[in-house]
Amino acid sequence: MTESNTPAAAGKSVKRSAWSSKWAFILAGAASAVGLGNLWRFPYLAARYGGGMFLLTYFVLAFTVGISLLLLETALGRRTRQSVIGSFSYYNKKYRFIGVLATLVPFIITPYYCIIGGWVTRYLAAYVVGSPSAMADGGAFFTSFITSPVGSLAFMVIFMAIVFIVVGLGVQKGIEKSNLIMMPLLIAFTIGIAIFCMVQPGAWEGVKYYLVPDFSKFSPQLVIGALGQMFYSLSLAMGIMVTYGSYLDKKENLTAGVSYIAGFDLLVSFFAGIMIVPAAFMAMGSADAVAAGSGPSLMFITLPQVFVDMGAAAKVIGVLFFVLVLFAALTSAISLMEACVSIVQDGLHFSRRKAMTIVIIIVLALGFFVDGGYSFFSFIQPMGEGSSLLDLFDFVSNSVLMPIVALLTCIFVGWVIKPKELIDEVRSSSKFKLASVWSVMIKFICPVLLVIILIAFVGSSLGAFSI
Ligand code: PFF
Repeated sequence: MTESNTPAAAGKSVKRSAWSSKWAFILAGAASAVGLGNLWRFPYLAARYGGGMFLLTYFVLAFTVGISLLLLETALGRRTRQSVIGSFSYYNKKYRFIGVLATLVPFIITPYYCIIGGWVTRYLAAYVVGSPSAMADGGAFFTSFITSPVGSLAFMVIFMAIVFIVVGLGVQKGIEKSNLIMMPLLIAFTIGIAIFCMVQPGAWEGVKYYLVPDFSKFSPQLVIGALGQMFYSLSLAMGIMVTYGSYLDKKENLTAGVSYIAGFDLLVSFFAGIMIVPAAFMAMGSADAVAAGSGPSLMFITLPQVFVDMGAAAKVIGVLFFVLVLFAALTSAISLMEACVSIVQDGLHFSRRKAMTIVIIIVLALGFFVDGGYSFFSFIQPMGEGSSLLDLFDFVSNSVLMPIVALLTCIFVGWVIKPKELIDEVRSSSKFKLASVWSVMIKFICPVLLVIILIAFVGSSLGAFSI
């Protein structure tokens, strides 16, 4: 990325960052998209919601709704040449609030994302220095780690420190360089480990469960789970892709760019499922047991057991696997942190250094608080018996704010500024044969789906029904 002077909305000349090439944009978009969502969340959702049926639904949704929204956000950013708050107020100050809501999301996600990043760092350290069987004890290792105030905080701080250093080095020296190293390794490790897992004795039943759709497993819950996952995974509705689009040169092909980003994201999710769903199958034995027993602990409790069952390979595979997850978590956390820094920088007109200091203080303070939800503040169970502060942060960002922001964005583009405004932007650099289909998606289909997931998420958390 480079700095350049570009005319802004009001005709003033402002200094804006710019991607050094289309590939820098694609790599950054993919680095933000590919993260814990792909490696930790996607596989347990696929395992829980019937394997192949979930996979199929997810692919269909990602290639229709997901790609439409990704294109919308990047085109809006490039059209207005503003980051997220400015993009909305560019048209009228009264729409600024949509951008403000979007900017809340990275501030809520970053602290808890770094806590889970800390768990991954702890597991990697344990695989490097210890015996793989230490983690394969039915969950005792995991529970005692996350509830130990000092240990889990220390690893959260280590993870955050890496993120702070990379972001502190700046966009070119820190973010672009680290993506350039971590992303290709991540893709290579994902495919390599997935193939290794697939050929393990006993894995085939699980591979079939994951790949062959069983249409009887289709349910509203499955669709809602897939939609929520798609938002999270593609980093939608939090202003990041708008900002990234605003750095993109007017001559670069937007449709190809977003297709690559979505393609990378799907590829990693697909292979993550191949690694983990058959493993869950091996550990639990039947489709029903997998569906009933899969949840967030799949990676931290079930998988270590499966690694141990691989015998001599356990240590190597454990190390490689957690290096892979760490890279994915880091690249996403870096992009989340960069989003927070640019929001403070743009919003308060602070220098980058000052903005970083403020963001570090906020992220550390919230991180301590949320992590304390498993120890000091475990008496706070905000979402009912046994729930944690992390659950609350996850819920507010993913289930409430993201659908609301996405809905408002679709209404804004579909009905206020009108799709043609962005269709012209896309067409300024490439063909856009599906423009009329895209308009229908943005005006009708996406808003309806978003209202459904919003009602479903909020309704289920209030206990009205279960999803
Ligand atoms: N897309 C990331 C994941 O799937 O883990 C999560 C995320 C990263 C969301 C970066 C937002 C973001 F800016």
